[in-house]
Amino acid sequence: MPSMIVYYAHPGHRHSTVNAAMQSGLDALSNLTRVDLYHEYPRHNINIETEQNRLLEHDIIVFQFPFFWYSTPSILKEWQDLVLEYGFAYGPGGDKLAGKTILAATSTGGEVQDYSLEGKHQTDIRGLLKPLECTARLCQINFAAPYVLFNALSKDNATEKQSHIDGYVKLLSTLQSGALPVDQIISNNTLGWRDVDQLMETK
Ligand SMILES: Cc1cc2nc3c(=O)[nH]c(=O)nc-3n(C[C@H](O)[C@H](O)[C@H](O)COP(=O)(O)O)c2cc1C
Repeated sequence: MPSMIVYYAHPGHRHSTVNAAMQSGLDALSNLTRVDLYHEYPRHNINIETEQNRLLEHDIIVFQFPFFWYSTPSILKEWQDLVLEYGFAYGPGGDKLAGKTILAATSTGGEVQDYSLEGKHQTDIRGLLKPLECTARLCQINFAAPYVLFNALSKDNATEKQSHIDGYVKLLSTLQSGALPVDQIISNNTLGWRDVDQLMETK
């Protein structure tokens, strides 16, 4: 069974309507390592050795965060800058993370149609997550299709939000148990809760 670590990065956790509920949903899963980055490192004083050891101990690395300024919240960038060291994650001898998988789980305020070449932001979410994808590739880590909820701030999509929260727990628990092999979520562009349901049906 693959081991899994979930890094959660939300500076406004107390005001969150989606990500906080996704975190609560994970309480149902056992054998899952969870790190709340803003809670553990309120001054961004990330412990590199602790983090590198955590990475070595896990096969699947999940980054859960609200989409901020077309990117991750800043602590997740700081974490990458410090933890993915030369000689550890890349460069000569830097193959310690080879073969692991990164799964990004994010939520946007923007609507799905805004995230396209023709839409308001003139690019899609996968394009905006390219820095994370390229970082993974340089470190020989597989980059899974990101699990995304668009339009997360809308008050009209309570059912959609709940399905997204349930889908997140399902996705992580089936990946963790090995019932859903990670290579089955590599080729999708993005994943939504409907895709998770579909993947479950084919099991
Ligand atoms: C500082 C900040 C930056 C944001 N930037 C974006 C953005 O670039 N694109 C977007 O679609 N939504 C953006 N949002 C909206 C958040 O993604 C949205 O509030 C979040 O996904 C909702 O999840 P939550 O209820 O768990 O906080 C931003 C919000 C904040 C506070």
